[in-house]
Amino acid sequence: MQNFEFQNPTKLLFGKGQISSLKKEIPAYGKRILLVYGGGSIKKIGLYDKVINELKEIGAFVIELGGVEPNPRLTTVQRGINLIRENQLDFILAVGGGSVIDGAKAIAAGVPYDGDVWDIVTSKVSAPSNSVPIGTVITIAGTGSEMNGNSVITNWETNTKAFFNSNHVLPRFSVLDPELTISVPRDQTVYGSVDIMSHVFEQYFHGSSNAPLQERIGEAILRTVIETAPKLVNDLNNYEYREIMLLNGTLALNGLTAMGVSPDWSTHLIEHAVSAVHDIPHGGGIAIIAPHWMEHVAAVRPEKIAQLGVRVFDLDPTGKTDAQLAAEAIQSLKNFWESIGAPTKLSDYGIDDKEIELMTERSMLADQIGSYVPLSKEDVRNILRNSL
Ligand code: NZQ
Ligand code: ZN
Repeated sequence: MQNFEFQNPTKLLFGKGQISSLKKEIPAYGKRILLVYGGGSIKKIGLYDKVINELKEIGAFVIELGGVEPNPRLTTVQRGINLIRENQLDFILAVGGGSVIDGAKAIAAGVPYDGDVWDIVTSKVSAPSNSVPIGTVITIAGTGSEMNGNSVITNWETNTKAFFNSNHVLPRFSVLDPELTISVPRDQTVYGSVDIMSHVFEQYFHGSSNAPLQERIGEAILRTVIETAPKLVNDLNNYEYREIMLLNGTLALNGLTAMGVSPDWSTHLIEHAVSAVHDIPHGGGIAIIAPHWMEHVAAVRPEKIAQLGVRVFDLDPTGKTDAQLAAEAIQSLKNFWESIGAPTKLSDYGIDDKEIELMTERSMLADQIGSYVPLSKEDVRNILRNSL
């Protein structure tokens, strides 16, 4: 293992009716609030009214920033920063999915920073320690943004999707009520399930050694998703399945399985580049790219993919090489994702080879990306071509 520091102070308020915790939690941070939400799903499910009632009970002054896009945009973040500065607000309540929460984190970090918030998003400068405090109400299982310090923002003018990570934007608390996720439509439920699995993969396929516990925790999350997702997509109103998936999503990306290892993240960098150019749903892009990434790296390091096959997809290793097991594991993963209705080709989203160069360029944060198997530009171009 590598040396590591770990601190995750986010308080989780999990279960039915936990929305009523807002009036207890928020006053510690102030009563002048920016309420951030997305395109309207929270109004359809009656959550907006519940939140407003909670805020009324504590006599809060509320300014709203609605309409945060899936794949949240820099321009929206800049609007949020201005609203906080103009109205001297002291707390951000983000109600929605990963996009809303990520947008809120970038706003939080941008307020005390004199320069352009894009400097923070692209990690040119660190998020300030006096970032505005955030609380969240998560409405869709997947990103884990409710318990991590990541924020992923798109600059649509330059077709760049960048991310930063900082403990200073970790939510102070997050409400996780599985009932609020029951209205998530089938396609978004599939994308969330894929995203959770891919977060495990990114950390499972690390460039370090001697991390058996972290890997076993990851495998437990994967097995739980594989057991639950097929039942959930055929029974979207099932509370028990929703609660299992919600906790899976949180634990898959809250730092637990990244302890002591250097995660890979190539698949995510490539997907972020695809959605920065074509604005497709994150989990949909991941479902297409991850198996092609695995095929590419299996040629160099099949062993961990073989391990995944045996421990997660219950493959029989008798008499098989790592390369054979890895090939079977990748096929099992493809079959599983196809069985729950995930997309399999970029052309499913109408994407052809025209923008391959731009997407390759945008994937390369450095000359090489990834740590399980470092990828060159040429490798990334091939993975994208195979994904078409
Ligand atoms: O905008 P509204 O109307 O709320 O609708 C959303 C949106 O259309 C809808 N939705 C959310 N909750 C719902 C619901 N619809 C009905 N009922 C509900 N309860 O679902 C759609 C997708 O929402 P979004 O927030 O975009 O989804 P997700 O949570 O998957 O977030 C995706 C974003 O997170 C980033 C992705 O790149 C993408 O920008 N990521 C963030 C990460 C992080 N912070 O750690 C890690 C991830 O790997 C990922 O990169
Ligand atoms: Zn993801």
